Amino acid sequence: MLSVQNLDVAYGPTQILFDVSMEVPANELFCVMGRNGVGKTTLLNAIMGVLRPTGGRVFFEGRDLGKMHPYQRVKAGLAYVPQTRGSFPQLTVLESLKVVVDASDRGDRDAMEDAIELFPRLRKLLGRKAGLLSGGEAAQLAIARALVTKPRLLILDEPTEGIQPSIILEIEDAIANLNSSTGMSILLVEQYMEFALRLAGKHIVLDAGEVVSSGATADLDDARMRELLLL
Ligand SMILES: Nc1ncnc2c1ncn2[C@@H]1O[C@H](COP(=O)(O)OP(=O)(O)O)[C@@H](O)[C@H]1O
Ligand SMILES: [Mg+2]
Repeated sequence: MLSVQNLDVAYGPTQILFDVSMEVPANELFCVMGRNGVGKTTLLNAIMGVLRPTGGRVFFEGRDLGKMHPYQRVKAGLAYVPQTRGSFPQLTVLESLKVVVDASDRGDRDAMEDAIELFPRLRKLLGRKAGLLSGGEAAQLAIARALVTKPRLLILDEPTEGIQPSIILEIEDAIANLNSSTGMSILLVEQYMEFALRLAGKHIVLDAGEVVSSGATADLDDARMRELLLL
């Protein structure tokens, strides 16, 4: 479904990603793992078209994303929840979701209802301003907003970062549910190893901008994983 082929990305003279390739199959929950600073967010930004790669190509359902603007990539069915989660602080939870229904030609009310259904905690907070949400609630809202666009591939950048364990479990359930019940394809970037390993069927691990492990997560060697992911 998503094919990243020999991607090189640089910020000015500093190359960050080196010859990164990965194949995300349809209906898969695929994880990109790696320590802080290895280039995970940079990879997602290149996939979304926020950054222009210096080499390599990215295809989504056979279409060359290099020829498409970021908004065209969203139209094609990609949805990106950035690490910063970026909601409008002055809008309520419900308004934050409605804005997406109105702005996206993919979105509609049914998708909004489904997204709220997935996060029971949000249903109780529909009237609260997004700027007043806790970190975990804001993370759920960010995922819900992405879901309103009915993505074919949902891309999540470290949804567990800075969140208390009980809400991490809710997010884990929601992601697992989405993938198993709707078959939505999910590309998850995550440093929290246990979370990633519980969810993902396939993976790559990045280290210093290079792919150092790839394949089925079930085949991962625990000792090797710890070496690659822990400080
Ligand atoms: N806008 C930028 N300009 C220059 N360097 C950047 C920029 N964004 C990230 N970097 C650098 O690129 C490297 C990879 O960052 P990032 O992709 O955010 O890593 P990760 O998401 O794996 O923590 C880091 O060394 C970071 O400092
Ligand atoms: Mg990052």
